[in-house]
Amino acid sequence: MKKFKYSEITPEKIYNKRRKFIKTFGLGIGSYALTTVSGLNKSSANTDLSKLTSYEDVTTYNNYYEFGTGKSDPYIKSQSFKTRPWNISIEGEVEEPINLSIEEILNSFNSEERVQRLRCVEGWSMIIPWMGFSLSEILNKVKIKPEAKFVKFTSVFDPEQMIGQRRAVLNWPYVEGLRLDEAMHPLTTVVTGVYGKTLPNQNGAPLRIFIPWKYGFKSGKAIVKIELVKKMPTSSWMWASPREYGFYSNVNPNVNHPRWSQATERVIGADIFAPRIKTLMFNGYGDEVAHLYSGMDLKKYF
Ligand code: MTE
Repeated sequence: MKKFKYSEITPEKIYNKRRKFIKTFGLGIGSYALTTVSGLNKSSANTDLSKLTSYEDVTTYNNYYEFGTGKSDPYIKSQSFKTRPWNISIEGEVEEPINLSIEEILNSFNSEERVQRLRCVEGWSMIIPWMGFSLSEILNKVKIKPEAKFVKFTSVFDPEQMIGQRRAVLNWPYVEGLRLDEAMHPLTTVVTGVYGKTLPNQNGAPLRIFIPWKYGFKSGKAIVKIELVKKMPTSSWMWASPREYGFYSNVNPNVNHPRWSQATERVIGADIFAPRIKTLMFNGYGDEVAHLYSGMDLKKYF
């Protein structure tokens, strides 16, 4: 899927150089991140997060329906998307809502490297070195009322800039949600960059959410509003097809999509003859998150 040429020094190469440096001297963002959040850097069989997907694949093979439904549409059609000025409000069931500019967010929270596996509901996966911090850090800036049980994420609505929004492919703006305890889990990440660089538009600049144990569509891009709510929000995908896309959408090899199996996945960037790998329960993050669902029938709450 090489449609264009990268110059010799890609962000990936710069990153790998820096990464070696970090490894040798044990300094810097990377080494810090990999040791602080459990579950970010396991190395057994399928949970090996050391084989990073190339920068090219991470930034040219995307899902971002606001820019079209093809995998290369986001890369091709999002380049002139304006991510400044940008504000994010945290509102709803909170004592006092706040509004943060993207600059305030980038200056007040320390983004660290978080290598996480992305498993798309379509049956492919990537291993991506995001830069980001735990969503709980932002949520802790507001006093959450006891009535709040869920968190609703709203992506930007801007059909002038986002040509995909001129058609009702989805119920715009893109909406996703989590239970409050899922949102507070340290693995739930606010993403501000990738490969040590600013987040490209096609990956959800200036800020997107990433929940590594859930199918990729739960991770909304270009977020403008984070709302604490009483009731389970209806996500864009639930609205489009409730039979196919549930609220939880935890990665689960035992619960098939009505139209295809979820037992295996294709690793993006792997040799074309490489076999598909087995999909892991909770995308390999079971040790960290299974307790959130104890006693729940995950076939019913898919
Ligand atoms: N967020 C918005 N706003 N619009 C989208 O179409 N696609 C989702 C998710 N977030 C999507 C979105 C899907 S289906 C996936 S798999 C991931 O983004 C893909 O993230 P990536 O392109 O950065 O790999």
